[in-house]
Amino acid sequence: MIMKKIYLSEIPDGTPIAYDLYNDKNIILLNKGVKMSPVLREKLQRNNIIFLTTQISPFETLDDRIKYLDEEVIHEIEKVKKQYKEAFYQISREFEGFKDYSKLDKKTVTDIGRGLVNSISNNQQVYASIQGIRRKDSYTYLHSIDVSILMILFGKSMNLASNEIEDIAIAGLLHDIGKTKIQDSILLKPEKLTADEEETMKNHTTYGYDILKNQLGYKEIIARIAREHHEKINGKGYPDGKRGETIHIFSKMVTICDIYDAITSERVYKKAMLPHVAVEYLMSIAGTHIDMDLVRQFIHNIAIYPMGTKVLLNTGEEGIVIKNNKNFPLRPVVQIIDSQKRRNLLSELTVLIKKVME
Ligand SMILES: [Fe+2]
Repeated sequence: MIMKKIYLSEIPDGTPIAYDLYNDKNIILLNKGVKMSPVLREKLQRNNIIFLTTQISPFETLDDRIKYLDEEVIHEIEKVKKQYKEAFYQISREFEGFKDYSKLDKKTVTDIGRGLVNSISNNQQVYASIQGIRRKDSYTYLHSIDVSILMILFGKSMNLASNEIEDIAIAGLLHDIGKTKIQDSILLKPEKLTADEEETMKNHTTYGYDILKNQLGYKEIIARIAREHHEKINGKGYPDGKRGETIHIFSKMVTICDIYDAITSERVYKKAMLPHVAVEYLMSIAGTHIDMDLVRQFIHNIAIYPMGTKVLLNTGEEGIVIKNNKNFPLRPVVQIIDSQKRRNLLSELTVLIKKVME
């Protein structure tokens, strides 16, 4: 378990607090189970408490939907979860160590990247369809693993060489490392950043380049990806305002994975976008912000309806997506609820997903 700080303003009213809390004189400030309210928030602030901590686990379960999946898929998911969890703890340790002591073990990071590449080679479909099992929240370390996973899937779909896939896996893990130099009050601020704060935040790209290239001695391409991952192809990004042709293709790929992962993540103040909506969003910014051909390639290879998604078909039936067909993200296999019937949308071409049910 990893502890995460949550600022009081980030906790919505009505949220039950998971533990007892005392002030420095050992007087109880709140009892476990008490719900957050404006009064409680004020009381805590008067006692100089500005954040609470919470334990987070990198997973949410597929809960009641897991029963629809095949035994063998559940087994694969378990293996993927194990790998994911391990990567999460290792990268968290590296980032914490870097934040506190400016130390990072490059070999560990390389091993995490390689571990993910190998694991994805063995369980590609599960990873491509993983949205349903990952716990989505704003936690930076999870985000870096997610981006790395998406980059590996992306790179494999483009038949990149194995050394290039390793590079982009590592770049995915480290692209936001510059954020370790941004103070928490800006990094974790739940409200909209002021113009000044936004400018400070933008520095994470150049800090990232400097850390990776000069401080840690990574090769140019990995540092360059960190520098370029907020550039836009129309030249209106940062830090250099580079246009499409001059941005490295790997950086353009990270930009897409970064945005996709961010919008499909749950935040305290916003709900996660479902993948099929996120894909529409990506298409809406393709051609100006991100590269059109690359977005198409990306969308083709990630599950638009991840395993566990509840859907309504044009036959009027409701079902759960239990499998994705490679290269056909819109045509998964659907288990009809309350029935033994299974529909493989790849062979039943007149059957379509009409909508996603919550
Ligand atoms: Fe970033």
